[in-house]
Amino acid sequence: MKVLVTGGAGFAGSHIADALLAAGHEVVIVDNLATGSKHNVPQAAVFFNMDINDPKLFDLIKEEGIEAICHQAAQIKVTDSITHPDHDAHVNIIGTIKLLEAARHLKIKRFLFAGSAAIYGQPDYLPVDEEHPKRPMSFYGLSKKVDEEYIRMYGELFGVNYMILRYANIYGPRQGRTGEGGVVSIFMENMIKGLPVTIEGDGGATRDYIYIEDVAKAVVIALESDVIGTVNVSTETQVSVNELFDTMKRAVGYPQDAVRGPARIGDIYLSSLSNRRIGELLPQWRPQTSLEDGLQKTVAWGRTVYSPDKE
Ligand SMILES: NC(=O)c1ccc[n+]([C@@H]2O[C@H](COP(=O)([O-])OP(=O)(O)OC[C@H]3O[C@@H](n4cnc5c(N)ncnc54)[C@H](O)[C@@H]3O)[C@@H](O)[C@H]2O)c1
Repeated sequence: MKVLVTGGAGFAGSHIADALLAAGHEVVIVDNLATGSKHNVPQAAVFFNMDINDPKLFDLIKEEGIEAICHQAAQIKVTDSITHPDHDAHVNIIGTIKLLEAARHLKIKRFLFAGSAAIYGQPDYLPVDEEHPKRPMSFYGLSKKVDEEYIRMYGELFGVNYMILRYANIYGPRQGRTGEGGVVSIFMENMIKGLPVTIEGDGGATRDYIYIEDVAKAVVIALESDVIGTVNVSTETQVSVNELFDTMKRAVGYPQDAVRGPARIGDIYLSSLSNRRIGELLPQWRPQTSLEDGLQKTVAWGRTVYSPDKE
């Protein structure tokens, strides 16, 4: 299929573009390079430096003969969503509606959306399944929740054939420090540079860390399936900050212990997402990369970027 990947110059989008190309699809990328980089764009993809809110996007989708949309572009900084909710909503909500309008009028065959665990908020129970109450704690989480409702309504009213993939905390090569799984990037950069690493709180806080190639595989399988629905993309495993620190310390060969800092008020303490439903709807998929292996690959990339001789 000819697939538009929005945000394809970013962390997740560029790996998804790689995986789509490897599976034999054609890839067109639209990205305004707000946080992404042209270096991430695969050579075999066609790249347009364009905002998803650009009025020319509709014609581009039509003229390129796009058959499927894989929408990854977003304002991803949680703190920026609190300081600038209008900008967050413009990119994340209005931008998504523009793409849905294109899907509706151009009869796009498949619409995949990068959802987020941020829509759940404080868990009532673990692992968090798709039916869990949605109580986002930031405008970023709220914008993802509103997007989902628009997507489902475009499905109901206009037959848009969609799948919403709610990602857990993704990590891997090319990730910046500001995204949802940013702790991995922050620890790695500091360790490779030999700088102190601070653990906020007692280090017992857990997250569900998923390696980017496992996410990219889920997206390719979702594209090729005709299932309509909403799924978590997760490992269903809790990893504490202390465990993450220790595993990365081994991968990097970092000699220091962590510096202990105060806990961040309002942070979620324990988290993991159920992956039972994705197992039922997309049975070919399961997470395959262990934390050790994923961190090894991430650190190998990190050394090419953060080692002192690369400065
Ligand atoms: N990284 C995670 O752990 C995680 C978890 C849950 C959901 N997500 C979602 O996955 C998607 C990708 O996130 P990421 O971590 O790769 O972040 P990223 O910042 O690396 O990628 C986002 C991309 O979107 C582009 N972009 C931003 N605004 C744009 C606009 N107005 N027009 C065109 N392009 C624009 C950026 O330049 C960037 O390349 C996002 O939708 C994010 O909300 C990520």
